[in-house]
Amino acid sequence: MDTREQLEQIRAEATASIESAASLQELDAVRVKYLGKKGELTAVLKTMGKLSPEERPKVGQMANEVRELITADLEKRNELLKAAQQEMKLKAETIDVTLPGTKVEIGHKHPLSIVLDEVKEIFLGMGFEVVGGPEVEWDYYNFEALNIPKDHPARDTQDTFYITENMLLRTQTSGVQIRTMENKKPPIRMIAPGRVFRSDAVDATHSPLFHQIEGMAIDEGITMGDLKGTLETFAKKLYGEQTKIRLRPHHFPFTEPSCEIDVSCFKCGGCGCSMCKGEGWIEILGGGMVHPKVLRTGGIDPEKYSGFAFGVGLERIAMFRFGLDDMRLLYENDVRFLDQF
Ligand code: DAH
Repeated sequence: MDTREQLEQIRAEATASIESAASLQELDAVRVKYLGKKGELTAVLKTMGKLSPEERPKVGQMANEVRELITADLEKRNELLKAAQQEMKLKAETIDVTLPGTKVEIGHKHPLSIVLDEVKEIFLGMGFEVVGGPEVEWDYYNFEALNIPKDHPARDTQDTFYITENMLLRTQTSGVQIRTMENKKPPIRMIAPGRVFRSDAVDATHSPLFHQIEGMAIDEGITMGDLKGTLETFAKKLYGEQTKIRLRPHHFPFTEPSCEIDVSCFKCGGCGCSMCKGEGWIEILGGGMVHPKVLRTGGIDPEKYSGFAFGVGLERIAMFRFGLDDMRLLYENDVRFLDQF
């Protein structure tokens, strides 16, 4: 076979190999086989020395043409295979957007936060604002200014943790009443939710740390009727439209007159059941008309203004709301319990 024939054969074989290369890797192997340093075309060119001087340029030109043709074929095939590969990749990566997604476990609000948010929402809707006060409080705000002097028996029911003789962990949110009077002029409408502390042993209905929500409204001409209407609206929104409330006379040092407020049992509707212990009513709030002495201490003229105040235990309303019989469930952070809300 002379050199021309050899070149012709290389070209034919190369074209066929390129045509049948099924992947970019295979195609590269073909390129190396024919055009590489140790490739077949290079091998033929190395034998050109044996040709006659007049043959050499002609065969040389032919060899160049063959190289160009093979190179052009390689490029074409390369483009084609690349496009096919891209298409396959896209197909493999196709997402079925109609498939159900993988659920991400996200947390949710604690039952106490659920109820607190509801309570806030209800009072915000009646024009109240939400205020706060310190958990480490002066004896003055927690007791003294609320008409509970040092030797008052009401202190016995609210023993707490003292930081100094005059500084303590607050036993009630009622101190925020005084702090608010000092900072704002009437009309005042506020609720003050927060943590309170008492030196109590833990059981199903007691904890040394729990939560209260204080409420207070002060303006000209506020009466006990306003207290009743406000708390009735609150009870109906929280426990349902059919809920009734009842005021019973009571005593608190900082309100006069004072009352305890019961709601009709939302489980039995008032007939008596295990939740209301057969009573038909459940006590949830303390309240009354702000004592004139307390108004004066807060810098408000009791001749011109009057007000009502109330306090409610958050745990208590949450427990009734969700039918819980043990307060400790709310603090133990057991997800088997918390998951249910
Ligand atoms: N602070 C009282 C308690 O812890 C609850 C209370 C009663 C708050 C009457 C009030 C109120 O604002 O007027 O028992």
